[in-house]
Amino acid sequence: MAEKELYSEGMDWNPVEEVILKRRSIRAYQSKQVPESLVRRILEAGRFAPSAGNCQPWKFIVIQDKQMLDEMTEDVRRSCKIFKFLLDYSGRRRFLLPITKLFIRLRKNELHPIPFGAIMLIAEDKLTLFHGAPTVILILKDKRGASSPDVDCGIAGQNMVLAAHSLGLGTCWIGFVKPLNYGRKWKKRLGIEYPYELIEGIALGYPKGNPDGIVSRETQEIDWYVDGTKKTIY
Ligand SMILES: Cc1cc2nc3c(=O)[nH]c(=O)nc-3n(C[C@H](O)[C@H](O)[C@H](O)COP(=O)(O)O)c2cc1C
Repeated sequence: MAEKELYSEGMDWNPVEEVILKRRSIRAYQSKQVPESLVRRILEAGRFAPSAGNCQPWKFIVIQDKQMLDEMTEDVRRSCKIFKFLLDYSGRRRFLLPITKLFIRLRKNELHPIPFGAIMLIAEDKLTLFHGAPTVILILKDKRGASSPDVDCGIAGQNMVLAAHSLGLGTCWIGFVKPLNYGRKWKKRLGIEYPYELIEGIALGYPKGNPDGIVSRETQEIDWYVDGTKKTIY
């Protein structure tokens, strides 16, 4: 029997493609809590993610405790205030230039100009950490994972994000949970010990309104080698 063709040129997006294309980061949530069975289903999508050597180098922590989320937000805000006080990208406080350069060298990804802008907003209370989401899934990396455990955690996280949107929820990746690693407080409270490290968070909840939808995206060159020739597509 011939295999059923699932693709034909010009066909409509299938349901998986629709979720991938229409998912948007959600930054406004209803207060209604996500039921446990639904969170469990989303965690399953993470558990089934591929990983190098099938190491599954992750641990997930679910937080559905508003007081804890508020306390985390406050602690991250405090860290952002310290960054705001110590660092200056604008050059207006010239004396801060050497220390700013040093910090950027030490934490170049966290202090990239884009998150740095958000750090200022969090410090000034103009941007919340979890955007009012009632549930947060923290992603911890097992540092012993084969190859690149960060990549594996990213794949597991995106599996959960896509599953959540396909089930009518909204999500937003929250890289700003990283400052919770700085002191002992949250490591102790959440029981985070070697080999685990908190690397990302995912805010989860019922979105306010329906903000999902396709947006325009930058197109980047893709080099494509076929039978001895190279073409470039966009
Ligand atoms: C690893 C990662 C960390 C992120 N951290 C944050 C964050 O801390 N706060 C936030 O509001 N958005 C965060 N985002 C969301 C990005 O800003 C968003 O994905 C990007 O602007 C593209 O928009 P879209 O997700 O709606 O397509 C993060 C996204 C990723 C992938």
